[in-house]
Amino acid sequence: MAVRVGIIGLGIGLRHLEEYRRLQGAQVVAVADFDLEKARQVAARYGLRAYGDGVAMMDEEKLDAVSICTPPASHRLLTEAAAARGLHVLCEKPMAPTLADCDAMIAACQRAGVTLLLGFKKRSAPPFRFLKEQEKEWGPPLVLDVRYQLGPVLKGWFWDEADGGGPFVENTAHAFDMLRFLCGEPARVYAEGTSFFSPVAGAASEAACTIRFRNGAIASLAAGMAGIWGYDESERWVVSYGALNAELFGPFDVPRQLRLMRRDGQTIEERWWAEASGWPEQMAHFLACVRGQEQPRATGEDGRAALALSLAVKESIRSGKVVELA
Ligand SMILES: NC(=O)c1ccc[n+]([C@@H]2O[C@H](COP(=O)([O-])OP(=O)(O)OC[C@H]3O[C@@H](n4cnc5c(N)ncnc54)[C@H](O)[C@@H]3O)[C@@H](O)[C@H]2O)c1
Repeated sequence: MAVRVGIIGLGIGLRHLEEYRRLQGAQVVAVADFDLEKARQVAARYGLRAYGDGVAMMDEEKLDAVSICTPPASHRLLTEAAAARGLHVLCEKPMAPTLADCDAMIAACQRAGVTLLLGFKKRSAPPFRFLKEQEKEWGPPLVLDVRYQLGPVLKGWFWDEADGGGPFVENTAHAFDMLRFLCGEPARVYAEGTSFFSPVAGAASEAACTIRFRNGAIASLAAGMAGIWGYDESERWVVSYGALNAELFGPFDVPRQLRLMRRDGQTIEERWWAEASGWPEQMAHFLACVRGQEQPRATGEDGRAALALSLAVKESIRSGKVVELA
C-alpha cells in the first residue's frame, strides 16, 4: 500500500512533491498553502486536491503522513495537529523558533507514536554519509574548518525573530546539525558577528564561530550571507582526522567533490557524486520510517539541539562572551 501524503507549504514543498512523485510507494494526494490560488495551480498540474489550510487538509483527507514545509513559526501547530490525528511528520528545518516549541513537538509525536523526521537532508547526502562511515577506519574528526555562506535572502519571515530567526537559525541549522552528526555534542561556542550584508538594520548576517565539542574536537565555521549565489565553492568542509585530511566542497548546499590527502601530503583519492543533495535519500528514508523499517536519521532531539546551537551563537554575538551549552 502506498503511503498517502499531504504537503503543507508550497515553496520548498514543491521539491518534496517532486521527490515523492519519483518514489515508488508514495502517493501525494493533497497540498495546502495559505495562498489557495498557488495550491489550486499545483493541485491542477498534478491531479491533487487543494486546501488553503493544512489542518483542514488533515481533517478531510485520508492521509498517513504530512510534509510540513511552511516557515518555522507554524511548525509546532501543524506538527501537533498531525500527531493528534496519528499522522507521521516530515518537518522542515529549523524545527521551530523556540526550544519550548521543539519540546512540545517531540512530546506530541511521542505521545501519538508517530515518526518525527527533521528535514536535515545533509544526513542523507552521500558525501556526508561516506565521511561518517569512514570514521570506522579513520577515527573521529579532530579539527574542522567550514565555510557555509548564503547569498542574500529577503523573505520577511526569514529575518523575523519570532519565525525564521535570521541566517544562523534558518539556514546555518543545516551546518550545526552536520557538525553534531560528525562530532557529537558541542560544549561551548564563541562567535563574532557582523551585519555587513543584512537587509535588516542591525541584524547579524555573518558570523565567525568557534565551537569546542565534548569529545575535544574543535570547529571554526564561517556562516551567514557573505556568499554569492552561484559561486561554485561557497560550501567547503575541511575535516582533519588523525591520518588524513578530507576536503568536501562545491556549490552551496550540494558539496559534491571530495579530496582525501594523507598527512604525508600525497593525494590519495578524489571522489565526486552526481547526486549529492540528500533529497532522494531523505524522502525514501521518510517512507521507510513511516513503514517502521528505519528509525529517523534526524530526530526531534536533533532539531532541538541544532536550534540550541543556533541560539548560543546568536547569544555569543550579542554578549561578546563564550556560551556554554548545557
Ligand atoms: N531543507 C532544505 O533544504 C530547505 C530549503 C528551503 C527551505 N527550507 C525550509 O522550509 C520552510 C519553508 O521555506 P520556503 O523557502 O519554502 O518558504 P517560502 O516562503 O518560499 O514558502 C512558504 C509557503 O508556505 C505558505 N505558508 C506559510 N505559512 C503557512 C501555513 N501555516 N499553512 C499553510 N501554508 C503556509 C506560504 O504561503 C508559502 O507559499 C522553512 O522552514 C525553511 O527553512 C528547507
